[in-house]
Amino acid sequence: MSVRRLAEESVQPASFAFTAENQAWAEKRIGLYPAGRQQSAVIPLLMRAQEQDGWVTRATIEKIAEMLGMPYIRVLEVATFYTQFQLQPVGTRAHVQVCGTTPCMLRGAEALIEVCKSKIHHDPHHLNEDGTLSWEEVECAGACVNAPMVAIFQDTYEDLTPERLEEIIDALHAGRADTIKPGTQIDRLNAAPASGLVVLTEEPTAKREKFVPPLAPDAPAAAPAAGAAPQAPTTAAQPKNIAPEAAPALKGTPVEAKVSTAQAEKDRKDASASAGADGKPNTAMREGATGAESSAGKVDGGKGVGSDNKPAVVAASDNPKEVTPNAEKGGVTPIFVAPAGAADDLKLISGVGPVIESKLNALGVTRYDQVADFSDEDFAKVEAALSFPGRAQRDNWKGQAEALAKGGIEEYRRVFGKDPR
Ligand code: FES
Repeated sequence: MSVRRLAEESVQPASFAFTAENQAWAEKRIGLYPAGRQQSAVIPLLMRAQEQDGWVTRATIEKIAEMLGMPYIRVLEVATFYTQFQLQPVGTRAHVQVCGTTPCMLRGAEALIEVCKSKIHHDPHHLNEDGTLSWEEVECAGACVNAPMVAIFQDTYEDLTPERLEEIIDALHAGRADTIKPGTQIDRLNAAPASGLVVLTEEPTAKREKFVPPLAPDAPAAAPAAGAAPQAPTTAAQPKNIAPEAAPALKGTPVEAKVSTAQAEKDRKDASASAGADGKPNTAMREGATGAESSAGKVDGGKGVGSDNKPAVVAASDNPKEVTPNAEKGGVTPIFVAPAGAADDLKLISGVGPVIESKLNALGVTRYDQVADFSDEDFAKVEAALSFPGRAQRDNWKGQAEALAKGGIEEYRRVFGKDPR
């Protein structure tokens, strides 16, 4: 880093004054500090002055020292210590700050400096011929992941090549700053890996799982069927220990006391394990459930296979009586009959993470051979249910599932030349 001195007298203006707007801003800023501590505003005022004139002059320092009641030398110390303050005139259209710290240097910062030398001026802190451009080398600007980079006023330009920096400088020189996109100059998302995502590859689900408020063990087993007369809540059916704000679905029922979250969770588990009055699982406690166990048993009565001994595929509407409660609650409606036997690890299919696997299970999809047998129509149903149009086809779930069903991870490696996931 070069020695930081004020510019030569020949370029120093005789005086400095804030614009009316900046003067008002400065006075308000000074007023934020307690009496006797006004000098704390020195850096904000120096920055405002630099934003106004492009650089910090001797007259600027004198003016700010006067405004803050500080000795001139104290303001000079601040201005010359922090490299964010420009002590020389800068280009009226761009001052290019090239990061020369290790990551950027390893990724080609020296070539960028050569571009600045050839297109602006051989030396840093010097203006080009028409006074529109200047440059300097700076320390890390915090965009190392997208090295090498330059900062120009408030923006950064990353993943630069010498050729791209030449284009940017030409555009700035021509007054076409609006044609340049700040940020990365290659096809990457912000600072994500340039070769594509390697983690968190799942797209966010379009709809969040509905929050299920904890219920007391003796809460109503299920919502009344459509058309049925609503039942008046009885004392026995009313929750005893749920705060009203935590159980909006039960608004209006008496509440005897609030309990801790831990107690409410215990109650919820107890209730989940218990059966309703008709001996069936308490479906009210399963709102939003995504487990394969619950959905598979609902659709096929636990058989899991069709008449041809292959996993059966049925539309939800084929058995509305069984699936309607879940659908009404906003949960995932099963559209396939889950095959018998242990579920496969669907997460080995690239594009399927824990959340998607859970939803697939809830749809009745649990095994590789099941996915391998899917038709285009089946995939369309799955993608629609997951709100991921084209996702399964694009990621070749079928091909991956065929390999995994045929020979597990070894076969997957043989077919795709890499480990699954
Ligand atoms: S090293 Fe260049 S931005 Fe950090």
